[in-house]
Amino acid sequence: MKGFNLLLIILAVMMLTSMAVAEQGYRSVPSTLTEESAACLECHETIIPAMVKEWRYSRHYGANVGCYECHSADPKDVDAFEHNGFTIATIVSPKDCSKCHETEYLEFQKSHHADAGNILGSLDNVLGEVVEGPMAAVNGCKQCHGSIVEVNDDGSLTPETWPNTGIGRINPDGSKGACSACHSRHSFDAALARQPENCGKCHLGPDHPQKEIYEESKHGIAYYGNIDRMNLESSSWVVGIDYSAAPTCATCHMSATADLPITHDVGDRIS
Ligand code: HEC
Ligand code: HEC
Ligand code: HEC
Ligand code: HEC
Ligand code: HEC
Ligand code: HEC
Ligand code: HEC
Repeated sequence: MKGFNLLLIILAVMMLTSMAVAEQGYRSVPSTLTEESAACLECHETIIPAMVKEWRYSRHYGANVGCYECHSADPKDVDAFEHNGFTIATIVSPKDCSKCHETEYLEFQKSHHADAGNILGSLDNVLGEVVEGPMAAVNGCKQCHGSIVEVNDDGSLTPETWPNTGIGRINPDGSKGACSACHSRHSFDAALARQPENCGKCHLGPDHPQKEIYEESKHGIAYYGNIDRMNLESSSWVVGIDYSAAPTCATCHMSATADLPITHDVGDRIS
C-alpha cells in the first residue's frame, strides 16, 4: 500500500512538472485582457482551440493584444458585421495593424510587394484569365499576387476572392497587401517569417526561381546544415551579432544588420 501511495505521489509530481513545461511554451506572461476580448474567448476557446493556442503563444498575448484589438471594426467599414453584440471584421488589413505598427505599414505600402495585386492589365494575366479561365487565375495567380476582395451585402466575403493571403491583396478598406502573407496567423512569429521557406512559397518556379537558386547555393547549404545555430527565435536577430552561420532571404532583403535597421520595403536594398 505504501508503495502504491509513493507511486501516486511520483505520478502527481510528474504531471505537475509536465504542466509547468507546457506552460513555458507560452512565451509571455499571462495577460489582463480587455472585457471585449475576454468575451470572444468564452466562445472561441472551445470552437477553435488550436487557433486560440497559437494566439496564446504569440507576443501579442503577453502585450494584451487580444481578438477584439485586431478584429474590431468601424460600423462604416464595408466588411463590418454584427457578431454577438460586437462590430467586427474577418479581415485584419495592413491598415488595421498600422494602429500599432505604423513604420512597418508605411514601408510596406510603398513597396512593390504592395502593388503585386495590380497585374490585371498585364499580358500574363490575359493568358491566365482568358486562356486558362478564372479558376486558373484564382489558384494560379492570386494566391501569390493577391485578390481584390469583394464583399457581399451582409458583410461576408465572396468565395471567388476569399480566403486569400496574396502579398498584394486589395482590401475592402482600400489598403494594399496582407501582412499575413508572411506573418502566419495567429502566432505572428518573427522566427517563422525569417526562414527562406516563407519567401520561397512565392519566389519559386521557372519565372522566379530564387528559392531553388538559394537551396543550391553555398548560403542555402550553410543554412540547412546549421539551422540549429541560426537563433531564429532571437528578439533582435542582427547578423554578425545574434547569428553568423548563413544569410536567409530576409537577412539580405529585410532584417537588421549592424548598420541597417529592419525594412518592410524589399526594394530598399536593390538597385
Ligand atoms: C456567443 C459566442 C461567440 C462570441 C461571444 C464571439 N464569437 Fe466569433 N464566432 C462564433 C461562432 C459560432 C462562429 C462561427 C460561425 C459564424 O461565422 O458565425 C464565429 C465566427 C467568428 C469569425 C469568423 C467569421 C467568418 O468570416 O467566418 C471571427 C473573425 C470571429 N468569430 C471573431 C470574434 C471576435 C473578435 C469576438 C469578440 C469580439 C467574437 N468572435 C465573439 C461565436 C462567438
Ligand atoms: C494581431 C492581430 C490579431 C489578433 C490578436 C487576432 N487575430 Fe484573428 N485574424 C487576424 C488576421 C490577420 C487574420 C486573417 C485575415 C487576414 O488575412 O486579414 C485573422 C483571421 C481570423 C479568423 C478567420 C479564420 C481564418 O483563420 O481564416 C478568425 C475566426 C479569427 N481570426 C478569430 C480570432 C480570435 C478568436 C482571436 C482571439 C483569440 C483572434 N482572432 C486574434 C489577426 C488577428
Ligand atoms: C493593439 C496593438 C497591436 C495591433 C493592432 C497589432 N499588433 Fe503586432 N504587436 C503589438 C505589440 C505591443 C507587440 C510587441 C510585443 C512584445 O514585444 O512582446 C507586437 C509584436 C508583433 C510582431 C513581432 C512578433 C515576434 O515574434 O517578435 C509581429 C510580427 C506583429 N506584431 C505583427 C502584427 C500584425 C501583422 C498585425 C495586424 C494583423 C498586428 N501585429 C497588430 C501590438 C499590436
Ligand atoms: C508561386 C507564386 C506566383 C504565382 C502563382 C504567379 N506569380 Fe507572378 N510573380 C511572382 C513573383 C515572386 C514575382 C516577382 C519576380 C521577380 O521579381 O523576380 C512575380 C512577377 C510577376 C509579374 C511582373 C510584375 C512586375 O511588376 O514586374 C507579373 C505581370 C506577374 N507576375 C503576373 C502573374 C500572373 C498573371 C499569374 C497567373 C497566371 C502569376 N503572375 C502567377 C509570383 C507568382
Ligand atoms: C515579405 C514578408 C513580410 C511581410 C509581407 C510583412 N512582414 Fe513583418 N516581418 C518580416 C520579417 C522577415 C520580419 C523579421 C525581421 C527581423 O529579422 O527581425 C518581420 C518583423 C516584423 C515585426 C517585428 C520586428 C520589428 O521591429 O519590425 C513587426 C511588428 C512586423 N513585422 C509587422 C508587420 C506588419 C504590420 C506587416 C503588414 C503591413 C508586415 N509585417 C508584413 C516579413 C514580413
Ligand atoms: C505571397 C507571395 C510572396 C511572398 C511570401 C514574398 N514575396 Fe517577394 N514578391 C512577390 C511578388 C508577386 C513580387 C512582384 C511584385 C511586383 O513587382 O508587382 C515580389 C517581389 C519581390 C522583390 C522585388 C522588389 C522590387 O522592389 O522590385 C524582392 C526583393 C522580394 N520580393 C523579396 C521577398 C522576400 C525577401 C520575401 C520573404 C521575406 C518575400 N519576397 C516574400 C511575392 C511574394
Ligand atoms: C546574400 C544576400 C542575398 C540572399 C541570401 C538573397 N538575396 Fe535576393 N538579391 C540579393 C542581391 C544582391 C540582389 C540583386 C540586387 C540588385 O539588383 O540590386 C537580389 C535580387 C533579388 C530579387 C530580384 C529583384 C529584382 O530586381 O527584380 C528577388 C525577387 C530576390 N532577390 C529574392 C530573394 C529571395 C526570395 C531569397 C531567398 C530564397 C533571396 N533573394 C536571397 C541578395 C540576396
